[in-house]
Amino acid sequence: MALLEVSGLGVDVAGLTLLDGISLRLDRGGSLGVVGESGCGKSLTALSIMGLLPPGLRPRGSVRLDGADLLDADDHALCAVRGRRVAMVFQEPMTALNPVKTIGAQVAEGPRRHLGLSRRAAREHARAVLHRVGLDPSRVSPDQYPHELSGGQCQRVVIAIAVACGPALLIADEPTTALDVSTQARILDLILDLVADEGMALLMISHDMAVIAETVTDMAVMYAGHVVEAGTCRRVLGDPRHPYTRGLMDAMPRGSGRPGEPLAAIPGTVPPPGAWPAGCAFRDRCPRADAACAIRPPLVADADGHAVACHRPFGAGERS
Ligand SMILES: Nc1ncnc2c1ncn2[C@@H]1O[C@H](COP(=O)(O)OP(=O)(O)OP(=O)(O)O)[C@@H](O)[C@H]1O
Ligand code: SF4
Ligand SMILES: [Mg+2]
Repeated sequence: MALLEVSGLGVDVAGLTLLDGISLRLDRGGSLGVVGESGCGKSLTALSIMGLLPPGLRPRGSVRLDGADLLDADDHALCAVRGRRVAMVFQEPMTALNPVKTIGAQVAEGPRRHLGLSRRAAREHARAVLHRVGLDPSRVSPDQYPHELSGGQCQRVVIAIAVACGPALLIADEPTTALDVSTQARILDLILDLVADEGMALLMISHDMAVIAETVTDMAVMYAGHVVEAGTCRRVLGDPRHPYTRGLMDAMPRGSGRPGEPLAAIPGTVPPPGAWPAGCAFRDRCPRADAACAIRPPLVADADGHAVACHRPFGAGERS
């Protein structure tokens, strides 16, 4: 049985579809990346898995963790899972932390609730976890408040809160986007270290193909609330079939580019929900679109599990 199995996940609000037909699978100790431009539905997918969708947003389909459907679970059951079996690192460390509680108290909360530790034992546990995420006790005390720490240090605290109860699945939603470049690399290294040491599965969400390539073995490319290409990173990055995946890859900075040379950008932007073109939602931006694209293409997988939703995908080895 997979650790996480998302099947036909959709999210609607006031008659508007925000996500549709999302299917993802993650085995114990495995790693999966979700990539796509801003507004394509990455965070809504993560929040659906966590049971943290904002009020008014209604999920459908199923999200199974250890075989149990989280979309059917009541608040009590969800609280028992959240933080204990699945935990999330958010994009903005400053807004993820409580400004009026010490960082030690924030890390200790989960272990008190989920592991039944006494106040004192939870405080010791928090101290150890903060050290484990690279906050040297001689420089950062558990008694400090978030505003006394840098952005990178705050993100380490957010990571400490997420891993404090040893979850089976860690969801990292753009965990480095708000940080400067050198801090970004150190935070990604820390996440990879923790995942390897603790045997956690990792769901890495990013708009950055390079982050996905460096951190996970499997990936799904999202566009306008749908998965448009999925498979192993080796197949998807080595032999991208969907024009959108190609566009994202062509927009990646390369070491071989000449200084000052502009990157190939995909024209236009992701249409908001309610303004998706009929048929293939990428139609308005796709260089390969033709009349067939007025019908939405299904996501079809080959024998290796490389799945593509496109009527005119690139062939193996075909150049853009
Ligand atoms: N509470 C809400 N009500 C209505 N629409 C929403 C709500 N939350 C998100 N959306 C819309 O759903 C779409 C997907 O949002 P989501 O936050 O999942 O995108 P994302 O891929 O995570 O983008 P980013 O890279 O900017 O974080 C967006 O168009 C967004 O405006
Ligand atoms: S279905 Fe058509 S419009 Fe959509 S990505 Fe494929 S070629 Fe482009
Ligand atoms: Mg997001």
